[in-house]
Amino acid sequence: MTNTVQFPDGFLWGAATSSYQIEGAWQADGKGESIWDRFSHTPGKIKDASSGDVACDHYNLMPGDVALMADLGLQAYRFSLSWPRILPNGRTPSNSAGLDFYDRLVDELLAKNIAPFITLYHWDLPQALQEEGGWASRSTAEAFTTYADVVSQKLGDRVKNWITHNEPWVAAFMGYGNGEHAPGIKDMAQALRASHHLLLSHGWAVPVIRQNSPGAQVGITLNLSQVYAASSSWADLQAARYTDGFLNRWFLDPLYGRHYPADMVHTYRQQGHLPAESALVQPGDLEAIAVPTDFLGVNNYSRAIARDETAVNNPPTLLPNDNFTEMGWEVAPEGLRDLLLRLHLDYRIPKLYITENGASYGEGPDENGRIQDPRRQLFLQQYLGAIHQAVQAGVPLVGYFVWSLMDNFEWAFGYKQRFGIVYVNYETLERLPKDSAHWYRSVIQQNGW
Ligand code: FCB
Repeated sequence: MTNTVQFPDGFLWGAATSSYQIEGAWQADGKGESIWDRFSHTPGKIKDASSGDVACDHYNLMPGDVALMADLGLQAYRFSLSWPRILPNGRTPSNSAGLDFYDRLVDELLAKNIAPFITLYHWDLPQALQEEGGWASRSTAEAFTTYADVVSQKLGDRVKNWITHNEPWVAAFMGYGNGEHAPGIKDMAQALRASHHLLLSHGWAVPVIRQNSPGAQVGITLNLSQVYAASSSWADLQAARYTDGFLNRWFLDPLYGRHYPADMVHTYRQQGHLPAESALVQPGDLEAIAVPTDFLGVNNYSRAIARDETAVNNPPTLLPNDNFTEMGWEVAPEGLRDLLLRLHLDYRIPKLYITENGASYGEGPDENGRIQDPRRQLFLQQYLGAIHQAVQAGVPLVGYFVWSLMDNFEWAFGYKQRFGIVYVNYETLERLPKDSAHWYRSVIQQNGW
């Protein structure tokens, strides 16, 4: 039987996680404190008052987790490194026990023919660097470059795919802007400084990684959402342009050599959040940020519908559909298709991966221990269908990582939101593949369905 949806030969199938969300072992073997340790230990910050202290205990259960990945037929695994596990104070000297953990993980993966994709920064900044201002301070970008050097020297012989940052928009605007994430600062001026230093640190790290890891493919992962105006009124079109600038162009434009978008610079200046340019963006910064990369990682879960809430007598013509995941995120696969086409046409990016996509649904084991999660399977099938359409239309998208391999600590939501294709029993730490995981395995085997 031939498949109805067939991906191109060599399309890469994987799953993603991040260090703070799964590792636990927050004080083991010389690890330093991260801003997420500090934040989750602060009362009131996490919805269910939990923390990543234990999480999935992946630090101790790692070999079994890699065996599970092999059982699922994964071809690639995207994970992040805990910076304070490796550099407890953010800077050298390094902690060899921390580095050894990732060394063993990489070897386990390679032994099972699973390609490691390393994310250097998935939000767990060493607390010691936050004491100096964190990402709002330029010195953190310098420290990041040293960190990139240390780990790519150690792992660069075997790891050939590197992602500098995960979702700098979230790190900057939720960490320093609305304060919903660590370090919990509410100051748009600091958020904008953080966004620049995150991008700058990417630009500085790319050549260092290339130097230490011959033949490496290096990129960055952004959270991107296609933005639609709620109506064709001028006010809503303006709102859509603003939202697109805020979420997407603020990162895409400088990465692809276009400087920060002029409309957003103007707006942020007017709001008083952006200092005179010379104070933040120094000579050479924009050239560094625009360093050529091999791929862009796209994280996508939903679309955005923009509306000028102050506009009167202006009924919206586009409303969210009534299909939401348990995060309250609208299920909108066509948004991902449109986003991919737009990225391709607008930025001519050489190679794209979906580095995260998935859904939070809470189904657990039934009386037979089986986990039936049909909504997740449908979600994945619809989004993969949209991706397939984009590939057919010529978008150079070469791989897909489901978020997430297993249920884990969902940041400010704690353990209540379950994104895994594998269920985690947080009492026993047992892992149980959900029906969606079995389905995903067959998709990988058939390169489609
Ligand atoms: C993304 C994060 C990831 C996970 C998913 C649901 O923004 O990169 O760690 O929390 O959302």
